[in-house]
Amino acid sequence: MIIGLLGFGTIGAGVYEIIKERGAAEVRYVLDIREIGIPELTHNMEDILADSEVDTVVEVMGGLHPAYEFVTAAMKAGKSVVTANKYLVATFYDELIALAKEMGVAFRCTAAVGGGIGWLTALEKAKRAERITALEGIMNGTTNYILSNMKEKGLSFETALSEAQALGYAEADPSADIDGLDIMHKVMLSANVAYDVSVKKEELFVAGIRTITDEDVKAFGEKGLTCKILGSAFENDGAVAAFVQPTLLPADSMTASVPANFNLISYEAEHSGKMSFFGQGAGRYPTAANAVQDCLDLAAGKKEFYTNESKQIALSNDKVSYRYYIRTTAKSAKALCKEPFGPGYLTEKMSVAEMQAAMVKIKAEDEKVFIAALAE
Ligand code: HSE
Repeated sequence: MIIGLLGFGTIGAGVYEIIKERGAAEVRYVLDIREIGIPELTHNMEDILADSEVDTVVEVMGGLHPAYEFVTAAMKAGKSVVTANKYLVATFYDELIALAKEMGVAFRCTAAVGGGIGWLTALEKAKRAERITALEGIMNGTTNYILSNMKEKGLSFETALSEAQALGYAEADPSADIDGLDIMHKVMLSANVAYDVSVKKEELFVAGIRTITDEDVKAFGEKGLTCKILGSAFENDGAVAAFVQPTLLPADSMTASVPANFNLISYEAEHSGKMSFFGQGAGRYPTAANAVQDCLDLAAGKKEFYTNESKQIALSNDKVSYRYYIRTTAKSAKALCKEPFGPGYLTEKMSVAEMQAAMVKIKAEDEKVFIAALAE
């Protein structure tokens, strides 16, 4: 296997090192705009496209552009693609799968969800044998690092975020982490693979943790609860619900205990029941190792994407309900606030779709609103 590596940042440098260490393939080119002092460096994507011996492009530059242009050009030049870029794959899902198929090249993105966890390959395997009905869990290392450290060490939100950035967990723009968008992309990919669908980004309900305060965290702790931000997708009779929201869990539950940058993601399958996957969900070497796994699968002849089908569906977020914690000054939320709870209130049980609609109005009045679902 001869590789053109796109990007020499946190993940790219890890991919480069692991491939060299294992002698697993030849990295012939490393595309980066900086002068990084390695012999394989090029500033020109054309070098990679024009070299017919390069059979695989590994894209770990992140972001949508020029990653999209480079990945599609690579496929059109007959090269297989491995990427860790969830933003790219979730955004151009249908197009990239169709193009890979048309060009007869392989396309894998295991490191895009769960960092070092082989989550998408686990879903791919599970659904060969049985129907998956639910998937849920902690899918973002940065926000888990923030929430764990706010709770366990009393760190402020800002300090915990800076530490997560210094450790290389956060996205280039950490808004993607704290506003839940990174998890949204991971939920989309997971749901698409697990349920053979193609969900639409704008339909997911996404609530982040940007506005959580020390007082919220303290009040949850006093009630024996821990706040984690979860990505979820459920399937029932063809109806798929998918959303991202802070969630209050019993403090002694397995999910509540997940520390630092770790992820814990589970699926429920009709025969096997619940299966959980735990590991480092962000960071150089875990994520890079998973991208190298994809390369090795390709070298062993694996060509197929994780699913062959992608039904275009509308989400059914009206089918899943929770009681919510809500802390806001918005007048439009008054009717929802039923029971005092720490610095905020609890709502009655309401569907995710109802909360999604309510939040549009509430946010327009109060950008500091914070909500969290109360786990059943
Ligand atoms: N920013 C992401 C996270 C990187 O913190 O989980 C891994 O996808």
